[in-house]
Amino acid sequence: MRRKMVAGNWKMNGTRTSVAELISSLKREELPSGVDVAVFPSSLHIAQVVGELEGSAISVGAQDCAEECGFGAFTGEESSAQLLDAGCTWVLVGHSERRLLLGEGDEVVSRKFSAAQASGLRPILCVGETFDERQAGRTLEVVSRQISCVLDVVGVAAFEFAVVAYEPVWAIGSGLSATPGQAQRVHAAIRGVVARRDPAIAEGLRILYGGSVKAENAAELFSQVDVDGGLIGGASLNANDFSAICRAAGN
Ligand code: 13P
Repeated sequence: MRRKMVAGNWKMNGTRTSVAELISSLKREELPSGVDVAVFPSSLHIAQVVGELEGSAISVGAQDCAEECGFGAFTGEESSAQLLDAGCTWVLVGHSERRLLLGEGDEVVSRKFSAAQASGLRPILCVGETFDERQAGRTLEVVSRQISCVLDVVGVAAFEFAVVAYEPVWAIGSGLSATPGQAQRVHAAIRGVVARRDPAIAEGLRILYGGSVKAENAAELFSQVDVDGGLIGGASLNANDFSAICRAAGN
């Protein structure tokens, strides 16, 4: 049985004050013990969040990392070693906002995944098709390519401690979630791509769904056999909504 996971990607949001408020509200919420819960603040707030969550079961991740895993002359970058040192457990790689707005391709994403893995940070590899790609019937082709490129670089064994997040680009921040059936079909295909390399690793791999997950649609999405939880954007900025989604994963 795969343990469910709910991750909150705060994106470029929050100030020290609002982050402190969000954390103290989250700590008052009832969170299910059978679900891994993680939050992904902006890197400016990682140290604050790690400190304020001390003693809580909620883990902390970064939204991105450098392609280089150690230290050196890379102005403005943050390495996985530094993120681990700051108290992170997880790191998102390949979020569509970075792929599309910042031009990160599969090769860059693969190197970031590899750097994270080398430092002991657990990568959450984000994949997903655009609206045009879905309309053209290319969803499974695109998502399979995104997964296979990373598998080719890091090898399937590296997926034992990783997580995949399927986030259709058209569903992110649009209020228009994939239907549970649409999500299930893509999640099953992702598991199939990994299974062709190693069935046992594929069986244990957690695949999260992201894109307009709300307290109202979470339970039905998470009830699909290959949906192992969610990667939550907007709704993770509200402690009430986020904890309701975490409880939906626990049921
Ligand atoms: P929304 O939940 O706001 O659609 O964002 C999803 C997302 O991009 C999480 O990484």
